[in-house]
Amino acid sequence: MKRIAVMTSGGDAPGMNAAVRAVVRKGIFHGLEVYGIKRGYAGLISGEFERMELSSVADIIHKGGTVLRTARCPEFKNPKVQQEAAELLKAKGIDGIIVIGGDGSFMGAKALSNLGIPTIGIPGTIDNDIPCTDYCIGFDTAVNTAIDAINKIRDTATSHERTFVVEVMGRDAGDIALAAGLAGGAESILIPEVETNLDVVIHRLQQGQKRGKLHSIIVVAEGVASGFEIGKIIEERTGFDTRVIVLGHIQRGGSPTSFDRILASRLAAKAVDLLLANEGGKMVGIINNKIVATDIDEALKQKHTIDKEMYELAKILSI
Ligand code: F6P
Repeated sequence: MKRIAVMTSGGDAPGMNAAVRAVVRKGIFHGLEVYGIKRGYAGLISGEFERMELSSVADIIHKGGTVLRTARCPEFKNPKVQQEAAELLKAKGIDGIIVIGGDGSFMGAKALSNLGIPTIGIPGTIDNDIPCTDYCIGFDTAVNTAIDAINKIRDTATSHERTFVVEVMGRDAGDIALAAGLAGGAESILIPEVETNLDVVIHRLQQGQKRGKLHSIIVVAEGVASGFEIGKIIEERTGFDTRVIVLGHIQRGGSPTSFDRILASRLAAKAVDLLLANEGGKMVGIINNKIVATDIDEALKQKHTIDKEMYELAKILSI
């Protein structure tokens, strides 16, 4: 292994830069040549490679987004395109590649591995929905961003005695909603992994009001329904003055938390070690604070699950 490449792919996530930095610096430490591929699989197809030096990744550890840029690239699902990409990598003498991204990016990584390019996936998505790791890069920062917003919403909600519905991201996963809802003290948390019963939500709101609660916050994951739909139903059925806020892409930006920076650095270092050992077709993850490698196939086969105990706890504490 002499020359490796790194890219970020799919939705950006805070901490991706810390991961790129760690791949470049750890790679160079071991005497490897490291290339950055711009704009994920789109840049791979169009040959946007750039030699990375130690200084290329200076002053980025604290920055959100990704200096390599990123893209969603549906064309890469096409086996012909995958074959061409593998040939291009071989022609450029790239011996191994590290892909930082979510499940779509991992499918591409698996395809490249099957075509003889040792490829390692690093889970980077605010959705936290990749199996075989407790955390994905970006999730912690996104949750902190959501909590910061909820804290502010709580101030105005209390002053006006209002109900707020806060819609958070997560695609089909409820991790951000659950963590932000628990840490933000939400009255109800609606996630796709648990069937939503709006009668229960409304009953809890009414009970809260009887007890003298000045405001209520309901966190809804985008995978359940639009916050506006939920807010409309709640207002119609309770008569409570209700407002809706969609946090949206704000959750994808911002300086990564120390947790995400450290996680990114550790996962990236392991990814480089795996390539040095000539291993491909793997993803790296953190399980019980240990950095581990799992076959990408295995991760793609498993279904993402939510921490049900945490969900039940949030219900008890929000009474
Ligand atoms: O996968 C990350 C994510 O932010 C999801 O939470 C969200 O559903 C999606 O990406 C939004 O994608 P886009 O930025 O392409 O609109």
